[in-house]
Amino acid sequence: MTEPLRDLTLTTAEPYRDPTLSTPERVADLLGRMTLEEKVGQMLQLDARGDLADSVQRRHAGSILHTSPERLLEARRLTLETRLQIPLIVGEDCIHGHSFWPGATIFPTQLGMAASWDPELLERVARATAIEVAATGIHWTFSPVLCIARELRWGRVDETFGEDPYLIGEYASAMVRGYQGDGLADRTAILATAKHFAGYSETQGGRDASEADISRRKLRSWFLPPFERVAREGCRTFMLGYQTTDGVPIVVNDWLLTEVLKEEWGYPGVLITDWDNVGRMVWEQRVQPDYAHAAAAATRAGNDMIMTTPLFFEGALEAVERGMLPEDAFDAAVSRILALKFDLGLFEDPRMPQEGHEAIVGQAAHAELNLETARRSIVLLENDGTLPLGVDAGAPGAADRPLRIAVAGPLADDAQYQLGDWAGGSGQAGWLDGQPRELITTVLDGLRELAPAGSRVSYARGADILTLEPHPQGAFFPDGQPRPPVVRACPPDETLIAAAVADARDADAVVAVVGDHIELVGEGRSTATLELIGGQIALLDALIETGIPVIVVLLASKPLVLPASVERAAAVIWAANPGMQGGRAVAEIVLGRVEPSGRLPISFARHVGQQPTYYNQIRGQHGDRYADLTQSPAWAFGEGRSYTRVEYSDLTLSGTEFGVDDTVVAEVTVANTGARPVRETVQLYLRDDVTSASWADKELKGYGQVALEPGASERVRIELPVSDCTIVDARGERVVEAGDFDVLVGSSSRDEALLAARFTVR
Ligand code: NOJ
Repeated sequence: MTEPLRDLTLTTAEPYRDPTLSTPERVADLLGRMTLEEKVGQMLQLDARGDLADSVQRRHAGSILHTSPERLLEARRLTLETRLQIPLIVGEDCIHGHSFWPGATIFPTQLGMAASWDPELLERVARATAIEVAATGIHWTFSPVLCIARELRWGRVDETFGEDPYLIGEYASAMVRGYQGDGLADRTAILATAKHFAGYSETQGGRDASEADISRRKLRSWFLPPFERVAREGCRTFMLGYQTTDGVPIVVNDWLLTEVLKEEWGYPGVLITDWDNVGRMVWEQRVQPDYAHAAAAATRAGNDMIMTTPLFFEGALEAVERGMLPEDAFDAAVSRILALKFDLGLFEDPRMPQEGHEAIVGQAAHAELNLETARRSIVLLENDGTLPLGVDAGAPGAADRPLRIAVAGPLADDAQYQLGDWAGGSGQAGWLDGQPRELITTVLDGLRELAPAGSRVSYARGADILTLEPHPQGAFFPDGQPRPPVVRACPPDETLIAAAVADARDADAVVAVVGDHIELVGEGRSTATLELIGGQIALLDALIETGIPVIVVLLASKPLVLPASVERAAAVIWAANPGMQGGRAVAEIVLGRVEPSGRLPISFARHVGQQPTYYNQIRGQHGDRYADLTQSPAWAFGEGRSYTRVEYSDLTLSGTEFGVDDTVVAEVTVANTGARPVRETVQLYLRDDVTSASWADKELKGYGQVALEPGASERVRIELPVSDCTIVDARGERVVEAGDFDVLVGSSSRDEALLAARFTVR
């Protein structure tokens, strides 16, 4: 259904319509024809669920987001009735698949995928997503998220790649490549967005979008490097965070937007605000007296596209009228937006839903990639030898004798929640309430399908999680956004527990699927605690008490704190929100058809009061524990088990003294000494012995993956450029400091899992 040129009433004689001219020539021509109102409107990205005629025809919006398939066509029709027929650019949060398109492939969440430690896999996921998204008339995804997750109470941890800036940079770069493909002229390319620039995740107590108390040095040390990488690599758009830092909302932060992003990094791309950031300065943060001032400040600060602040239109016009802004104040922003549209070729082909998109969306090859991704995202945290089920501990092969498996838990068959946030039923889109059930394999489905012939797989829910009550302040925020209702935990239900326990007593093993739920995940849904809520703890306690081996499958958007009884569980698996194929992948791993290979991209706390638990903390405190609890996390960054044994030995470096331009080559022998194959993630951390300013005790600087058959071993080689052995000094400058460094190589960030070798930088 691509709209051909003949729909346009203008002639190609107008230079901006002439595809043989360069983008700057076309931009200059079109800009010269636009009225002030049309320019201001071009900066607006408005919610397609609102009054489309008002947005497109009265406010001259340049972009829409959150559009259903039907409203997309309606918006195009309205655009064709406007004077200049400037095509709309259409954005959506396609952050782990084409979230809100019925039947699209929904992959594991970003945090889940990050457990693969495989950027190339994520590049393929982003490419598949772009192919589905582009075929349906959407040009721009608000992905990837580059926020660093250091506070587990925050509701958006699942959207991140975890806690390590280096790994975040690797994944973000890969996903941007996947989305943007061979360049915007490619019909399958979509615009990527690096978000939320910068420091949004550094909340106070996990409260979403609260003031981020973060210094420039801290930003430069950990929060900015992933953004710098994708800015330099050509990510076409950046989305700004909600928060204020040092009193200044990010959307008007000159230091960050102008000095750092545009001047220092030379970023030429488009900046988009987050949802109503401009309005929030007036009604929420109260740092601007009215919309005229807010619009003027946002324009001066260099924002290009203003997301869902319809009153930016009136405010900006008023600012010009009152002499707060010159008439040409919008030209630079509008030029950048138009350039994107010309580069995408939208004037020649507005990229409406393609003929045959039904066969592209959710295609079999993407389902296959999704299964591969789900397998790679799953992390085996504990195993006493019970897994794989039906196989003698440490022996090769998959279960082949009939098994009696008692599946329990409220999440074992919750198809929509398995997909996580930003997916069909997660609430951001009103035009669908979930993805088709038949496209989703739950853990129960997977076990029923894959258990050896003659097996018996029973199911008991065992517990309820939560109920909702209306929020006392009403169902909407002042800007019309829905206000999350109040969550009440369900009490344990003895009847449900008794049924699950009865099943367990009659089984060889229990697979208990527990975790969080969508009402506890996402924007404005941070949690005060990290415990399993509702009847889930009582259910686990009772199941483990039976003495039948219990495999705890944690289907949780983010790391949670597990009850003490889980120390007696036979195994613990973290599956994050594993996407449409997640249940099958869990079943394959439980039954030994696939080897577990995921490694944590984020640490798990033992208690919410241990926050923060990220591994790369700054050296220096009295002791290393609380009076009443260790500070050591339950499971640390980089951890994850296999079904075999892996041994590391003979760490060597290519020398002992290096200059700043040299590269240190580390080599280590990795041996599979068990009876099953393994995909091992070899991690290289760096410890800078003495630094001029306080610094992280160790930082991930490289990794490699190696597949080893039983009995095999390999020398794994990881390069470490000395120019990466940096700290940010007290002046805020990133430098390599001469002195001693320890290269630490092993299977996780825990000191006891690492071999060490020392070198000196001259
Ligand atoms: C607000 C979220 O913070 C952002 O991540 C998202 O892209 C926009 N809303 C659009 O839905």
